[in-house]
Parts: sequence; C-alpha cells; structure tokens
Amino acid sequence: ENTSGDSEKVTYKVGTEPTFPPFDTTDEEQNIVGLDMDLIKAIGEDQGFEVTFENLTFDGLVPALKAGNIDIIAAGMNKDDPERQKQVDFSDAYYESKLMVAVTEDNNTIKSVDDLTPDMKVAAQTGTTGATKTQELADEGKIAEAVILDGLDTAMMQLLNGDVQAVINDKPVTEAYMKKQPDKIKMVGEPLNAENYGFAVQKGNTELLEKINAGLANIKEDGTFDKLVDEWFNK
Ligand code: ARG
Repeated sequence: ENTSGDSEKVTYKVGTEPTFPPFDTTDEEQNIVGLDMDLIKAIGEDQGFEVTFENLTFDGLVPALKAGNIDIIAAGMNKDDPERQKQVDFSDAYYESKLMVAVTEDNNTIKSVDDLTPDMKVAAQTGTTGATKTQELADEGKIAEAVILDGLDTAMMQLLNGDVQAVINDKPVTEAYMKKQPDKIKMVGEPLNAENYGFAVQKGNTELLEKINAGLANIKEDGTFDKLVDEWFNK
C-alpha cells in the first residue's frame, strides 16, 4: 500500500502468477495482463484505488501476502480451500471453475483419470489444486510421478514433448492453451473437482475486502464484469 506520488488515490500491489490465461498472462512486452487484472482494475476504478502488478510463483503468493509484500492476490485462486482460508481472507467468488485431465490429442488410451497407470508421469503447477490432486495420485501409487512445475506453459510443453502423459489443470485455462495450439491437446473424463475463484487479502484486512466486494458487486451490476469476461474468453 502506498499513498505517496502525484495521485491522491491509494495504490495496492496485486500479486499474480501469469502463465494462467485468460485470467493471468503476459502481453508481447511482458506486461502482466488478463481477466483478473482487468477485473481488479475495474474494481479499483469503482472504489477509488489504483493497482500495480507483481509477478510471483503461485506458491509464493500467500507468503508474499502474509509478509505484506503484496496487498491483493488476483490469480484464479480457489477460495473453497480450508487451508488457504486459515491464511488469507477471500472476496466473494467471481468465477466457477473445475479441474480436468488434459492429454495429447492423439492419445487413445487415456479417456479419464482412471486410465492413468503406475508407469505414467503427470504434470501440474506448484501450489495449485491441480498439484494437490496430482500428488494424491502419486501417493496412492496410481501414477509413477507427480511432476510439479512453476509454470503451466512448461507443463503444457512437457505434455506436447511426451515428457509427461497428462496435465491436471483448471478447465478454462487448459482451453486457452488449446486455442493457442489447435488440435494438439484435449481434455478427457469428468471434472475432478468444483472450485470458486476469489481475490485474497491479508487476514483481518476487512477495509480492503469490503472495497473489493462492493466494487465486484457494482461491476457485475453495471455490465463491466460480463463485458470483460466476454473479451478475455473470445480473444
Ligand atoms: N485454481 C487453481 C488453484 O487455486 C490454480 C490457480 C493458478 N493460478 C495462477 N495464476 N497460476 O489452485
């Protein structure tokens, strides 16, 4: 938080991990952009605050928030996770999501999570719900190894290279990767969970949390929210 400078508005530092399109990604100049960024900017415009963005690993976001290095997490973060709820406070939900198993388009043997076998490697992003699920499969001996990576771009690359046989990740994000490289990746089987994304603030920071919730309600009400979702899902 910073009130100095030309602007009289308070500026909050927003942390994210930007290999998570269309929510958190980067443009050609490596600026952090995405639906999460546009949503929190619009919420700030409504509530009279400004934002800057910080690029962190996903598992570094909660520690950075707790340490006060950032003020808000905007990272497609599942708010229904009790372990996270002990550490941070979440805003109202802004997006419903689910985990899916992704394989290469030409894979004819893996049709669901049950077709994974003890000789297979499965990738997921560090600190995510997908990583927890993947680690569970490894612990149960259902797969050879959970390959836990910092970036989802790397996970998708390893899938295409054949280094791993599957990736467990959020459905709308895997769909964004599928769009970038058509006819290479597909999703199989039933969703492995249901989750709700929320913005996170430090535990007890009710002042900021109330601003975020009020702003979120207002941008839903005035159509900004739907417009931004449409824009980012139709790129
Ligand atoms: N929704 C998942 C979770 O909460 C993954 C979020 C990953 N976000 C990101 N910006 N990389 O664990």
